[in-house]
Amino acid sequence: MKLYIEIAYLISSILFIVGIKMLNKTQTARKGNFVSAIGMFIAILATVVQVRAITLIDIFAGILIGSIIGLYFAYKVKMTQIPEMVAVFNGFGGLASLAIALSDYWLNTQEGLMAGYSDLIVPISVILSIFIGGITFTGSMIAYLKLNGKISGRAIVFSGQHPLNLALIILSIVLSVFVVINTSDPIYILLISLLSLVLGVLLVIPIGGADMPVVISLLNSYSGMAACATGFVLSNNVLIISGALVGASGIVLTQIMCKAMNRSLMNVLLGGFGQTAGSAGSVDGGSDIVVKEVGVEEAAQIFDSVSSLIIVPGYGMAVAQAQHAIREMYEICEKKNINVRFAIHPVAGRMPGHMNVLLAEANIPYDKLIEMELINDDFSNTDLVFIVGANDVVNPAAKTNPNSPIFGMPVLNVEKAQTVIVSKRGMAPGYAGIENELFGADNCLMLFGDAKQSITKLVNELKEL
Ligand code: TAP
Repeated sequence: MKLYIEIAYLISSILFIVGIKMLNKTQTARKGNFVSAIGMFIAILATVVQVRAITLIDIFAGILIGSIIGLYFAYKVKMTQIPEMVAVFNGFGGLASLAIALSDYWLNTQEGLMAGYSDLIVPISVILSIFIGGITFTGSMIAYLKLNGKISGRAIVFSGQHPLNLALIILSIVLSVFVVINTSDPIYILLISLLSLVLGVLLVIPIGGADMPVVISLLNSYSGMAACATGFVLSNNVLIISGALVGASGIVLTQIMCKAMNRSLMNVLLGGFGQTAGSAGSVDGGSDIVVKEVGVEEAAQIFDSVSSLIIVPGYGMAVAQAQHAIREMYEICEKKNINVRFAIHPVAGRMPGHMNVLLAEANIPYDKLIEMELINDDFSNTDLVFIVGANDVVNPAAKTNPNSPIFGMPVLNVEKAQTVIVSKRGMAPGYAGIENELFGADNCLMLFGDAKQSITKLVNELKEL
Protein backbone atom coordinates (compact mmCIF):
# COMPACT_ATOMS: atom_id res chain seq x y z
CA MET A 1 0.00 0.00 0.00
CA LYS A 2 2.79 2.41 0.98
CA LEU A 3 4.45 1.86 -2.42
CA TYR A 4 1.23 2.72 -4.30
CA ILE A 5 0.81 5.85 -2.21
CA GLU A 6 4.38 6.97 -2.93
CA ILE A 7 3.83 6.31 -6.67
CA ALA A 8 0.63 8.39 -6.54
CA TYR A 9 2.56 11.19 -4.81
CA LEU A 10 5.27 10.99 -7.47
CA ILE A 11 2.67 11.27 -10.25
CA SER A 12 1.10 14.27 -8.46
CA SER A 13 4.49 15.97 -8.14
CA ILE A 14 5.21 15.46 -11.85
CA LEU A 15 1.78 16.88 -12.74
CA PHE A 16 2.47 19.93 -10.52
CA ILE A 17 5.78 20.56 -12.28
CA VAL A 18 4.30 20.09 -15.77
CA GLY A 19 1.34 22.32 -14.78
CA ILE A 20 3.61 25.13 -13.58
CA LYS A 21 5.66 24.87 -16.77
CA MET A 22 2.46 25.23 -18.81
CA LEU A 23 1.48 28.35 -16.85
CA ASN A 24 4.53 29.96 -18.44
CA LYS A 25 2.66 30.71 -21.68
CA THR A 26 -0.76 32.32 -22.11
CA GLN A 27 -1.72 29.68 -24.70
CA THR A 28 -1.18 26.75 -22.33
CA ALA A 29 -2.00 28.42 -18.99
CA ARG A 30 -5.58 27.11 -18.70
CA LYS A 31 -4.49 23.54 -19.43
CA GLY A 32 -1.61 23.98 -16.96
CA ASN A 33 -4.08 24.89 -14.26
CA PHE A 34 -6.15 21.82 -15.09
CA VAL A 35 -3.10 19.50 -15.08
CA SER A 36 -2.08 20.82 -11.64
CA ALA A 37 -5.65 20.36 -10.37
CA ILE A 38 -5.55 16.69 -11.44
CA GLY A 39 -2.24 16.37 -9.57
CA MET A 40 -3.89 17.82 -6.47
CA PHE A 41 -6.87 15.47 -6.81
CA ILE A 42 -4.56 12.43 -6.93
CA ALA A 43 -2.57 13.74 -3.94
CA ILE A 44 -5.76 14.23 -1.92
CA LEU A 45 -7.04 10.74 -2.77
CA ALA A 46 -3.70 9.15 -1.87
CA THR A 47 -3.76 11.01 1.44
CA VAL A 48 -7.36 10.31 2.50
CA VAL A 49 -7.00 6.55 2.03
CA GLN A 50 -4.35 6.62 4.76
CA VAL A 51 -6.45 8.50 7.31
CA ARG A 52 -7.64 6.42 10.23
CA ALA A 53 -8.65 9.00 12.86
CA ILE A 54 -11.86 10.15 11.10
CA THR A 55 -14.21 8.52 8.62
CA LEU A 56 -14.12 8.95 4.84
CA ILE A 57 -17.61 10.49 5.04
CA ASP A 58 -16.26 13.23 7.35
CA ILE A 59 -13.40 13.89 4.94
CA PHE A 60 -15.59 14.08 1.83
CA ALA A 61 -18.09 16.29 3.66
CA GLY A 62 -15.19 18.66 4.39
CA ILE A 63 -14.01 18.54 0.78
CA LEU A 64 -17.56 19.21 -0.47
CA ILE A 65 -18.07 22.21 1.82
CA GLY A 66 -14.63 23.60 0.90
CA SER A 67 -15.30 23.11 -2.82
CA ILE A 68 -18.65 24.90 -2.64
CA ILE A 69 -17.05 27.87 -0.82
CA GLY A 70 -14.18 27.86 -3.37
CA LEU A 71 -16.56 27.77 -6.34
CA TYR A 72 -18.65 30.59 -4.90
CA PHE A 73 -15.61 32.84 -4.51
CA ALA A 74 -14.17 31.86 -7.91
CA TYR A 75 -17.35 33.17 -9.55
CA LYS A 76 -17.96 36.13 -7.25
CA VAL A 77 -14.50 37.68 -6.98
CA LYS A 78 -13.74 40.28 -9.65
CA MET A 79 -10.50 40.17 -11.61
CA THR A 80 -9.22 43.29 -9.82
CA GLN A 81 -9.83 41.55 -6.46
CA ILE A 82 -7.66 38.52 -7.28
CA PRO A 83 -4.60 39.80 -5.33
CA GLU A 84 -6.67 40.05 -2.13
CA MET A 85 -8.18 36.61 -2.69
CA VAL A 86 -4.69 35.15 -3.16
CA ALA A 87 -3.69 36.90 0.10
CA VAL A 88 -6.50 35.08 1.94
CA PHE A 89 -5.50 31.73 0.36
CA ASN A 90 -1.88 32.23 1.41
CA GLY A 91 -2.94 33.21 4.91
CA PHE A 92 -5.03 30.07 5.40
CA GLY A 93 -2.19 27.96 3.97
CA GLY A 94 0.10 29.44 6.62
CA LEU A 95 -2.49 28.89 9.36
CA ALA A 96 -2.92 25.24 8.29
CA SER A 97 0.86 24.69 8.50
CA LEU A 98 0.94 26.28 11.94
CA ALA A 99 -2.01 24.20 13.20
CA ILE A 100 -0.66 20.90 11.84
CA ALA A 101 2.82 21.43 13.25
CA LEU A 102 1.42 22.51 16.62
CA SER A 103 -0.84 19.46 16.87
CA ASP A 104 1.99 17.13 15.82
CA TYR A 105 4.20 18.67 18.51
CA TRP A 106 1.43 18.25 21.05
CA LEU A 107 0.82 14.61 20.20
CA ASN A 108 4.50 13.72 20.28
CA THR A 109 5.45 15.51 23.45
CA GLN A 110 2.35 15.64 25.64
CA GLU A 111 0.35 12.52 25.01
CA GLY A 112 3.28 10.19 25.35
CA LEU A 113 2.76 8.62 21.91
CA MET A 114 6.49 8.90 21.43
CA ALA A 115 9.15 9.75 23.95
CA GLY A 116 9.71 13.14 22.31
CA TYR A 117 11.43 13.50 18.94
CA SER A 118 14.22 11.12 18.10
CA ASP A 119 16.18 13.45 15.82
CA LEU A 120 16.59 17.15 15.17
CA ILE A 121 14.90 17.30 11.75
CA VAL A 122 11.35 17.05 13.08
CA PRO A 123 11.53 19.63 15.91
CA ILE A 124 13.31 22.09 13.60
CA SER A 125 10.64 21.48 10.93
CA VAL A 126 7.91 21.98 13.55
CA ILE A 127 9.44 25.31 14.58
CA LEU A 128 9.83 26.50 10.95
CA SER A 129 6.30 25.41 10.10
CA ILE A 130 4.87 27.32 13.04
CA PHE A 131 7.09 30.39 12.70
CA ILE A 132 6.72 30.88 8.93
CA GLY A 133 3.07 29.76 8.99
CA GLY A 134 2.20 32.29 11.72
CA ILE A 135 3.92 35.19 9.92
CA THR A 136 2.19 34.19 6.67
CA PHE A 137 -1.23 34.07 8.32
CA THR A 138 -1.33 37.46 10.04
CA GLY A 139 0.84 39.14 7.35
CA SER A 140 -1.58 37.96 4.65
CA MET A 141 -4.60 39.09 6.64
CA ILE A 142 -3.12 42.60 6.97
CA ALA A 143 -2.33 42.58 3.22
CA TYR A 144 -5.94 41.54 2.52
CA LEU A 145 -7.40 44.24 4.79
CA LYS A 146 -5.14 46.91 3.23
CA LEU A 147 -5.99 45.89 -0.32
CA ASN A 148 -9.75 45.86 0.08
CA GLY A 149 -9.71 49.11 2.05
CA LYS A 150 -10.99 47.68 5.35
CA ILE A 151 -7.93 49.30 6.95
CA SER A 152 -5.91 52.22 5.59
CA GLY A 153 -3.52 51.22 2.79
CA ARG A 154 -0.98 53.77 4.04
CA ALA A 155 2.33 52.65 5.47
CA ILE A 156 2.15 52.55 9.28
CA VAL A 157 5.59 53.43 10.61
CA PHE A 158 6.88 54.22 14.10
CA SER A 159 10.33 54.81 15.46
CA GLY A 160 12.24 51.70 16.51
CA GLN A 161 10.08 49.51 14.24
CA HIS A 162 12.91 47.66 12.55
CA PRO A 163 14.96 47.10 15.76
CA LEU A 164 11.77 45.78 17.42
CA ASN A 165 11.21 43.30 14.56
CA LEU A 166 14.84 42.21 14.77
CA ALA A 167 14.56 41.74 18.56
CA LEU A 168 11.43 39.57 18.12
CA ILE A 169 13.17 37.44 15.48
CA ILE A 170 16.20 36.94 17.78
CA LEU A 171 13.88 36.07 20.69
CA SER A 172 12.15 33.48 18.48
CA ILE A 173 15.53 31.91 17.64
CA VAL A 174 16.44 31.71 21.35
CA LEU A 175 13.06 30.12 22.16
CA SER A 176 13.62 27.64 19.30
CA VAL A 177 16.80 26.44 21.01
CA PHE A 178 14.75 25.81 24.18
CA VAL A 179 12.20 23.83 22.14
CA VAL A 180 14.93 21.64 20.72
CA ILE A 181 16.64 20.94 24.06
CA ASN A 182 13.44 20.63 26.09
CA THR A 183 10.77 19.21 23.81
CA SER A 184 8.27 18.33 26.54
CA ASP A 185 7.44 21.84 27.82
CA PRO A 186 4.86 23.43 25.48
CA ILE A 187 5.40 26.99 26.73
CA TYR A 188 8.29 27.68 24.33
CA ILE A 189 6.49 26.53 21.20
CA LEU A 190 3.38 28.47 22.24
CA LEU A 191 5.49 31.60 22.69
CA ILE A 192 7.04 31.11 19.23
CA SER A 193 3.53 30.78 17.76
CA LEU A 194 2.48 34.03 19.43
CA LEU A 195 5.61 35.87 18.33
CA SER A 196 5.17 34.72 14.73
CA LEU A 197 1.60 36.06 14.68
CA VAL A 198 2.75 39.43 16.06
CA LEU A 199 5.68 39.56 13.62
CA GLY A 200 3.35 38.94 10.64
CA VAL A 201 1.44 42.10 11.56
CA LEU A 202 4.56 44.17 12.29
CA LEU A 203 6.32 43.18 9.08
CA VAL A 204 3.43 44.10 6.77
CA ILE A 205 2.02 47.30 8.35
CA PRO A 206 4.94 49.53 7.21
CA ILE A 207 4.37 48.57 3.58
CA GLY A 208 2.08 50.83 1.51
CA GLY A 209 -1.10 49.34 0.00
CA ALA A 210 0.17 49.79 -3.56
CA ASP A 211 3.17 47.53 -2.87
CA MET A 212 0.89 44.76 -1.62
CA PRO A 213 1.06 42.66 -4.84
CA VAL A 214 4.80 42.22 -4.28
CA VAL A 215 4.25 41.42 -0.60
CA ILE A 216 1.51 38.92 -1.46
CA SER A 217 3.83 37.17 -3.88
CA LEU A 218 6.45 36.99 -1.10
CA LEU A 219 3.87 35.70 1.41
CA ASN A 220 2.88 33.13 -1.20
CA SER A 221 6.47 31.96 -1.15
CA TYR A 222 6.41 31.85 2.69
CA SER A 223 3.24 29.75 2.66
CA GLY A 224 5.05 27.28 0.37
CA MET A 225 8.06 27.15 2.68
CA ALA A 226 5.80 26.58 5.69
CA ALA A 227 4.03 23.75 3.83
CA CYS A 228 7.40 22.26 2.86
CA ALA A 229 8.48 22.25 6.55
CA THR A 230 5.12 20.67 7.45
CA GLY A 231 5.92 17.97 4.86
CA PHE A 232 9.02 17.09 6.91
CA VAL A 233 6.95 17.06 10.10
CA LEU A 234 4.48 14.59 8.57
CA SER A 235 7.08 12.74 6.44
CA ASN A 236 4.87 13.51 3.46
CA ASN A 237 6.85 13.70 0.21
CA VAL A 238 4.20 15.39 -1.94
CA LEU A 239 3.84 18.17 0.64
CA ILE A 240 7.61 18.66 0.70
CA ILE A 241 7.78 18.86 -3.12
CA SER A 242 4.69 21.03 -3.65
CA GLY A 243 5.69 23.33 -0.78
CA ALA A 244 9.14 23.74 -2.31
CA LEU A 245 7.57 24.49 -5.72
CA VAL A 246 5.31 27.19 -4.24
CA GLY A 247 8.17 28.59 -2.16
CA ALA A 248 10.51 28.80 -5.15
CA SER A 249 7.96 30.09 -7.67
CA GLY A 250 6.75 32.75 -5.20
CA ILE A 251 10.25 34.06 -4.67
CA VAL A 252 10.99 34.03 -8.45
CA LEU A 253 7.80 36.00 -9.12
CA THR A 254 8.69 38.46 -6.35
CA GLN A 255 12.09 39.01 -7.95
CA ILE A 256 10.55 39.47 -11.42
CA MET A 257 8.12 42.09 -10.08
CA CYS A 258 10.87 43.96 -8.22
CA LYS A 259 13.12 43.91 -11.29
CA ALA A 260 10.35 45.16 -13.57
CA MET A 261 9.76 48.06 -11.15
CA ASN A 262 13.52 48.62 -10.74
CA ARG A 263 13.21 48.25 -6.96
CA SER A 264 15.04 46.01 -4.56
CA LEU A 265 13.06 43.64 -2.36
CA MET A 266 14.53 45.44 0.67
CA ASN A 267 13.19 48.74 -0.66
CA VAL A 268 9.69 47.22 -0.87
CA LEU A 269 9.89 45.53 2.54
CA LEU A 270 11.17 48.60 4.36
CA GLY A 271 8.20 50.54 2.96
CA GLY A 272 7.78 54.22 2.11
CA PHE A 273 7.70 54.05 -1.73
CA GLY A 274 6.69 57.34 -3.38
CA GLN A 275 7.77 59.47 -0.41
CA THR A 276 10.62 60.89 -2.53
CA ALA A 277 8.32 61.68 -5.45
CA GLY A 278 7.95 65.35 -4.41
CA SER A 279 11.43 66.11 -5.64
CA ALA A 280 10.89 64.32 -8.91
CA GLY A 281 7.75 65.65 -10.47
CA SER A 282 5.03 64.77 -7.98
CA VAL A 283 1.68 66.08 -9.11
CA ASP A 284 0.41 66.77 -5.61
CA GLY A 285 0.45 70.49 -6.31
CA GLY A 286 -1.16 70.13 -9.76
CA SER A 287 0.42 69.48 -13.16
CA ASP A 288 1.90 72.27 -15.29
CA ILE A 289 2.24 70.11 -18.41
CA VAL A 290 0.49 71.65 -21.43
CA VAL A 291 -1.40 69.00 -23.37
CA LYS A 292 -3.23 68.84 -26.71
CA GLU A 293 -6.71 67.38 -26.50
CA VAL A 294 -8.29 65.32 -29.25
CA GLY A 295 -12.00 64.59 -29.76
CA VAL A 296 -13.44 61.20 -30.66
CA GLU A 297 -14.19 62.18 -34.30
CA GLU A 298 -10.69 63.48 -34.94
CA ALA A 299 -9.16 60.45 -33.20
CA ALA A 300 -11.22 58.13 -35.41
CA GLN A 301 -9.90 59.89 -38.51
CA ILE A 302 -6.32 59.38 -37.31
CA PHE A 303 -7.05 55.67 -36.73
CA ASP A 304 -8.55 55.43 -40.21
CA SER A 305 -5.40 56.84 -41.81
CA VAL A 306 -2.73 54.58 -40.27
CA SER A 307 -1.37 51.20 -41.31
CA SER A 308 0.32 50.15 -38.05
CA LEU A 309 -1.06 50.45 -34.52
CA ILE A 310 0.25 49.38 -31.13
CA ILE A 311 -2.25 49.38 -28.25
CA VAL A 312 -0.72 49.79 -24.76
CA PRO A 313 -3.08 48.69 -21.97
CA GLY A 314 -2.56 49.75 -18.34
CA TYR A 315 -4.28 49.78 -14.98
CA GLY A 316 -6.96 52.22 -16.22
CA MET A 317 -8.15 49.61 -18.75
CA ALA A 318 -8.82 47.24 -15.84
CA VAL A 319 -10.61 49.98 -13.85
CA ALA A 320 -12.79 50.90 -16.86
CA GLN A 321 -13.26 47.22 -17.87
CA ALA A 322 -12.55 48.42 -21.40
CA GLN A 323 -11.14 45.13 -22.73
CA HIS A 324 -14.29 44.11 -24.65
CA ALA A 325 -14.59 47.54 -26.28
CA ILE A 326 -10.91 47.23 -27.20
CA ARG A 327 -11.56 43.90 -28.86
CA GLU A 328 -14.27 45.50 -31.01
CA MET A 329 -11.84 48.23 -31.93
CA TYR A 330 -9.17 45.67 -32.74
CA GLU A 331 -11.53 43.81 -35.09
CA ILE A 332 -12.54 46.98 -36.95
CA CYS A 333 -8.91 48.04 -37.35
CA GLU A 334 -7.97 44.58 -38.66
CA LYS A 335 -10.78 44.84 -41.20
CA LYS A 336 -9.29 48.15 -42.29
CA ASN A 337 -5.97 46.31 -42.89
CA ILE A 338 -4.23 48.02 -40.00
CA ASN A 339 -1.51 45.89 -38.41
CA VAL A 340 -2.63 45.87 -34.75
CA ARG A 341 -0.52 44.57 -31.86
CA PHE A 342 -0.64 44.94 -28.08
CA ALA A 343 2.45 45.90 -26.06
CA ILE A 344 2.45 44.23 -22.65
CA HIS A 345 4.62 45.69 -19.90
CA PRO A 346 5.44 43.11 -17.18
CA VAL A 347 4.01 45.26 -14.35
CA ALA A 348 1.21 47.06 -16.20
CA GLY A 349 -1.86 46.94 -13.96
CA ARG A 350 -1.70 45.77 -10.38
CA MET A 351 -0.88 42.09 -10.50
CA PRO A 352 1.33 39.79 -12.55
CA GLY A 353 -0.24 38.98 -15.91
CA HIS A 354 -3.10 41.44 -15.25
CA MET A 355 -3.28 42.72 -18.83
CA ASN A 356 -2.83 39.28 -20.44
CA VAL A 357 -5.69 37.87 -18.40
CA LEU A 358 -8.09 40.71 -19.25
CA LEU A 359 -7.26 40.73 -22.97
CA ALA A 360 -7.45 36.93 -23.15
CA GLU A 361 -10.87 37.13 -21.43
CA ALA A 362 -11.97 39.42 -24.28
CA ASN A 363 -10.68 36.86 -26.83
CA ILE A 364 -7.85 38.96 -28.22
CA PRO A 365 -5.63 36.42 -30.04
CA TYR A 366 -2.62 35.45 -27.89
CA ASP A 367 -0.15 36.04 -30.70
CA LYS A 368 -1.12 39.71 -30.76
CA LEU A 369 0.05 40.21 -27.15
CA ILE A 370 3.73 41.08 -27.43
CA GLU A 371 6.04 41.36 -24.44
CA MET A 372 7.94 44.59 -23.87
CA GLU A 373 11.41 43.34 -24.84
CA LEU A 374 10.08 41.97 -28.13
CA ILE A 375 8.14 45.07 -29.20
CA ASN A 376 10.16 47.95 -27.76
CA ASP A 377 12.29 48.42 -30.89
CA ASP A 378 9.21 48.51 -33.14
CA PHE A 379 7.67 51.74 -31.80
CA SER A 380 9.86 53.92 -34.04
CA ASN A 381 8.36 52.20 -37.14
CA THR A 382 4.79 52.50 -35.91
CA ASP A 383 2.25 55.05 -37.15
CA LEU A 384 0.05 55.17 -34.06
CA VAL A 385 0.26 54.14 -30.42
CA PHE A 386 -3.00 54.05 -28.46
CA ILE A 387 -2.45 54.09 -24.70
CA VAL A 388 -5.42 52.90 -22.66
CA GLY A 389 -5.18 53.81 -18.96
CA ALA A 390 -1.41 53.27 -18.76
CA ASN A 391 0.83 55.88 -17.19
CA ASP A 392 3.98 54.81 -15.31
CA VAL A 393 4.84 52.05 -17.78
CA VAL A 394 5.04 54.62 -20.61
CA ASN A 395 6.75 57.40 -18.62
CA PRO A 396 9.99 58.47 -20.40
CA ALA A 397 11.25 59.93 -17.07
CA ALA A 398 12.29 56.37 -16.23
CA LYS A 399 14.92 56.80 -18.96
CA THR A 400 15.71 60.50 -18.75
CA ASN A 401 15.27 61.80 -15.18
CA PRO A 402 17.72 60.38 -12.61
CA ASN A 403 15.70 62.05 -9.81
CA SER A 404 12.53 60.21 -10.71
CA PRO A 405 11.49 57.42 -8.31
CA ILE A 406 10.99 55.18 -11.33
CA PHE A 407 14.36 56.03 -12.95
CA GLY A 408 15.86 52.82 -14.32
CA MET A 409 12.52 50.98 -14.56
CA PRO A 410 12.24 49.51 -18.06
CA VAL A 411 9.41 51.31 -19.91
CA LEU A 412 7.72 51.09 -23.31
CA ASN A 413 9.28 53.40 -25.95
CA VAL A 414 5.88 54.78 -26.98
CA GLU A 415 7.16 58.34 -27.57
CA LYS A 416 9.11 57.07 -30.60
CA ALA A 417 5.96 56.36 -32.60
CA GLN A 418 4.72 58.90 -35.13
CA THR A 419 1.55 59.72 -33.17
CA VAL A 420 0.46 58.80 -29.65
CA ILE A 421 -3.13 58.98 -28.39
CA VAL A 422 -3.72 58.56 -24.65
CA SER A 423 -7.11 57.53 -23.25
CA LYS A 424 -7.47 58.54 -19.58
CA ARG A 425 -9.96 60.53 -17.53
CA GLY A 426 -7.80 63.51 -16.57
CA MET A 427 -4.26 64.35 -15.57
CA ALA A 428 -4.17 62.14 -12.47
CA PRO A 429 -0.90 60.30 -11.93
CA GLY A 430 -0.51 56.54 -11.84
CA TYR A 431 0.68 54.28 -9.05
CA ALA A 432 4.08 56.01 -8.63
CA GLY A 433 2.35 59.37 -8.02
CA ILE A 434 4.47 61.27 -10.54
CA GLU A 435 3.63 63.32 -13.60
CA ASN A 436 4.32 62.14 -17.12
CA GLU A 437 5.92 64.51 -19.64
CA LEU A 438 4.88 62.23 -22.47
CA PHE A 439 1.41 63.78 -22.25
CA GLY A 440 2.88 67.17 -23.24
CA ALA A 441 5.02 65.81 -26.11
CA ASP A 442 4.51 67.24 -29.63
CA ASN A 443 3.32 63.92 -31.04
CA CYS A 444 0.94 63.16 -28.13
CA LEU A 445 -2.83 63.78 -28.06
CA MET A 446 -5.07 63.29 -25.02
CA LEU A 447 -8.47 61.62 -25.42
CA PHE A 448 -10.02 62.49 -22.06
CA GLY A 449 -12.80 60.37 -20.56
CA ASP A 450 -13.44 56.92 -19.12
CA ALA A 451 -11.60 54.43 -21.35
CA LYS A 452 -14.61 52.19 -21.98
CA GLN A 453 -16.86 55.11 -22.94
CA SER A 454 -14.20 56.76 -25.14
CA ILE A 455 -13.41 53.53 -26.97
CA THR A 456 -17.08 52.65 -27.47
CA LYS A 457 -17.62 56.08 -29.07
CA LEU A 458 -14.43 55.64 -31.11
CA VAL A 459 -15.68 52.28 -32.37
CA ASN A 460 -18.98 53.84 -33.46
CA GLU A 461 -17.10 56.60 -35.31
CA LEU A 462 -14.80 54.08 -36.97
CA LYS A 463 -17.82 52.09 -38.18
CA GLU A 464 -19.02 55.21 -40.00
CA LEU A 465 -15.73 55.78 -41.82
P1 TAP B 1 -0.66 53.49 -13.62
O1 TAP B 1 0.66 54.12 -13.77
O2 TAP B 1 -1.09 53.12 -12.25
O3 TAP B 1 -1.72 54.51 -14.29
C1 TAP B 1 -3.05 54.19 -14.44
C2 TAP B 1 -3.75 55.35 -15.08
O4 TAP B 1 -5.04 54.89 -15.44
C3 TAP B 1 -3.93 56.55 -14.18
O5 TAP B 1 -3.04 57.58 -14.49
C4 TAP B 1 -5.42 56.94 -14.38
O6 TAP B 1 -5.50 58.30 -14.80
C5 TAP B 1 -5.89 56.01 -15.48
N1 TAP B 1 -7.26 55.56 -15.25
C6 TAP B 1 -7.85 55.18 -14.11
N2 TAP B 1 -9.13 54.85 -14.31
C7 TAP B 1 -9.37 55.04 -15.62
C8 TAP B 1 -10.52 54.88 -16.45
N3 TAP B 1 -11.71 54.47 -15.95
N4 TAP B 1 -10.40 55.15 -17.77
C9 TAP B 1 -9.22 55.58 -18.27
N5 TAP B 1 -8.12 55.76 -17.55
C10 TAP B 1 -8.18 55.48 -16.23
O7 TAP B 1 -0.82 52.19 -14.51
P2 TAP B 1 0.25 51.38 -15.35
O8 TAP B 1 0.86 52.24 -16.39
O9 TAP B 1 -0.45 50.12 -15.74
O10 TAP B 1 1.41 51.07 -14.33
C11 TAP B 1 1.26 50.14 -13.26
C12 TAP B 1 1.95 50.66 -12.02
O11 TAP B 1 1.63 49.79 -10.92
C13 TAP B 1 3.45 50.69 -12.16
O12 TAP B 1 3.99 51.80 -11.49
C14 TAP B 1 3.87 49.40 -11.44
O13 TAP B 1 5.18 49.44 -10.93
C15 TAP B 1 2.85 49.36 -10.32
N6 TAP B 1 2.65 48.01 -9.76
C16 TAP B 1 2.36 46.99 -10.58
C17 TAP B 1 2.28 45.72 -10.06
C18 TAP B 1 2.00 44.58 -11.01
S1 TAP B 1 2.48 43.12 -10.59
N7 TAP B 1 1.40 44.78 -12.14
C19 TAP B 1 2.41 45.48 -8.69
C20 TAP B 1 2.67 46.59 -7.86
C21 TAP B 1 2.78 47.84 -8.42
P3 TAP B 1 -6.89 59.10 -14.64
O14 TAP B 1 -7.31 58.95 -13.21
O15 TAP B 1 -6.52 60.50 -15.03
O16 TAP B 1 -7.86 58.49 -15.57
